[in-house]
Amino acid sequence: MTTLVTGGTGRLGRPTVDALRAHGHAVRILSRRPGPDHVVADLATGAGLTAALEGVDTVVHLATSRSKDIGQTRMLLDALSGTGAHLVFISIVGVDRVPYAYYRDKVASERAIEDSGVPHTIIRATQFHGFVSEFLDAQRRLPVTLVVPATVQTIHMPEVAERLVELVAAGPQGRAADLGGPELLTLREHAAEWQRAHGIRRPIWTLRLPGAFARAVREGGLTAGLPGAGRVTFREYLVDQLAGRATNGA
Ligand SMILES: NC(=O)c1ccc[n+]([C@@H]2O[C@H](COP(=O)([O-])OP(=O)(O)OC[C@H]3O[C@@H](n4cnc5c(N)ncnc54)[C@H](OP(=O)(O)O)[C@@H]3O)[C@@H](O)[C@H]2O)c1
Repeated sequence: MTTLVTGGTGRLGRPTVDALRAHGHAVRILSRRPGPDHVVADLATGAGLTAALEGVDTVVHLATSRSKDIGQTRMLLDALSGTGAHLVFISIVGVDRVPYAYYRDKVASERAIEDSGVPHTIIRATQFHGFVSEFLDAQRRLPVTLVVPATVQTIHMPEVAERLVELVAAGPQGRAADLGGPELLTLREHAAEWQRAHGIRRPIWTLRLPGAFARAVREGGLTAGLPGAGRVTFREYLVDQLAGRATNGA
């Protein structure tokens, strides 16, 4: 049984490849660049894709690009058509509630997969702890920490990777249950945790922005609800990260 991971070189892709291997799967990594166990292909042009899919039973589709996701998903679906391989696709909780171009693209990818006839599983996850921590790290040198009024339910990326492995083993099931982290916290609370973990004390300013996107995230549009399946909290993630046990991305 061979599993191809698109985006296997990315933030979520690396722990997913590790988790698949730990569970005994033969893994091939689709990347635009050569590397160990890589098969070189480009989802934007389709170059190398047919060869990449040869002998593959499952494709875990994690590749993403800010503005071309739907084109890349369609390219992959065309190549998968008739092969019988199972496509596992990662999406984001709230993509149909929060108006944002990247999310509209994700919804379009979900629809294209559902309409394709390709055996599939779609799972939506909430934001990764590392995503919020990167946003706060970027403000490390500012005299204040800026946040917007949003409630999020961040999750530890290795837990998402483990769930993807379960979905590979389970076979096609259409839309799987959403995957959320263990806590609902505002970005202000995340900023306070981040400052505590880094031994930094500075004012946290909450900027109330206008518009439909800001309103949707303020109203919890990105959350999956409690109890979330994730167990590792943002605070525990930060402790691990500072001890060098988790990278920013994981
Ligand atoms: N960030 C979050 O909090 C969050 C939450 C839920 C779901 N997600 C979803 O999780 C997925 C993975 O996100 P990530 O942050 O791990 O992504 P990432 O680190 O930005 O990695 C992007 C990957 O896409 C690949 N890629 C881009 N264009 C490609 C192309 N034309 N052909 C082939 N491969 C291409 C890259 O591979 P090469 O450069 O090696 O070619 C790279 O491995 C995304 O779908 C994202 O929306 C993210």
